[in-house]
Amino acid sequence: MPALSFQSVSKTYPSRSAGAPALHALKQVSLEVQEGEFFGLLGPNGAGKTTLISILAGLSRPTTGRVLVHGHDVQTDYAAARRLLGVVPQELVFDPFFTVRESLRIQSGYFGVKHNDAWIDELLDSLGLADKAGSNMRQLSGGMKRRVLVAQALVHKPRVIVLDEPTAGVDVELRQTLWAFIAKLNKQGHTVLLTTHYLEEAEALCGRIAMLKNGQLLALERTSDLLRSATSQVLRFKLDGDLPPAVAAIARVTGRIVQLPVHNAVEIENHLTTLRTAGLVVEDVEIRQADLEDVFLEVMNRKQTASGALA
Ligand SMILES: Nc1ncnc2c1ncn2[C@@H]1O[C@H](COP(=O)(O)OP(=O)(O)OP(=O)(O)O)[C@@H](O)[C@H]1O
Ligand SMILES: [Mg+2]
Repeated sequence: MPALSFQSVSKTYPSRSAGAPALHALKQVSLEVQEGEFFGLLGPNGAGKTTLISILAGLSRPTTGRVLVHGHDVQTDYAAARRLLGVVPQELVFDPFFTVRESLRIQSGYFGVKHNDAWIDELLDSLGLADKAGSNMRQLSGGMKRRVLVAQALVHKPRVIVLDEPTAGVDVELRQTLWAFIAKLNKQGHTVLLTTHYLEEAEALCGRIAMLKNGQLLALERTSDLLRSATSQVLRFKLDGDLPPAVAAIARVTGRIVQLPVHNAVEIENHLTTLRTAGLVVEDVEIRQADLEDVFLEVMNRKQTASGALA
């Protein structure tokens, strides 16, 4: 039995004003996550990732379809499904009146877990919160609050850990601590579902990846297969000046750095000739293997037909 099963999940938000179209936040999304997987859910802003997680967590109802957690339907068997899940929400929500330790104890109580102080101490330690245990939630910085959200999600040792952009606005040190801790729990058998815009994190951590765009599933593969299927290589160089339109259309540009997908030596030759002909000077030319960000951009830029199928 899969840990998570999304079955033809759609979510439509009605239009807010007369004449405006309804918003299809999710369109027939079906996917399964097996127990013990470290699974990545990627997609641009507004793709539907948080909507899918809200439905999984029972915070929002699907318009059609259903979601099971270890066989328990999140709507008809909510309590059982919810107990199996630890969800770190994207938005920082917290109760300002309690200390960190109190809020973790309250969360334990909510899940009916008694005498949980040993695990709470381990969570506080592992997430670098030990010296903040007595602090009021209000007094914490943004990154610290996010650590508390992670601790809250894990307080009942859920079999399935769901992290919605847990590292947004988080410093390098906590990211490393957090990933070491989550990786340890995953090794112990906990299933992990992660959304992130840091694609190097997803590439390093996730065994399989789903890519969503406009509520539609565009890719669902092993990370290694995605990387292998990619444009084989990337031509990278520095440039002062504007790219010719034909090259700009396929380029990934960060400041002066330009990266172009290339499949063979002839393509490299052609790109460099085009630039030279345009009177542009390129510096620091190198060729590297494609990474997950290249694959992601390739998948997102594929043409979609009106029916949503890939052309
Ligand atoms: N309550 C709501 N009412 C109407 N539209 C909504 C509501 N919640 C989300 N949406 C819309 O649904 C779409 C998907 O939003 P969602 O938050 O799931 O995206 P996301 O993939 O999590 O994006 P991000 O990377 O920015 O977090 C967006 O177009 C969003 O505006
Ligand atoms: Mg989101």
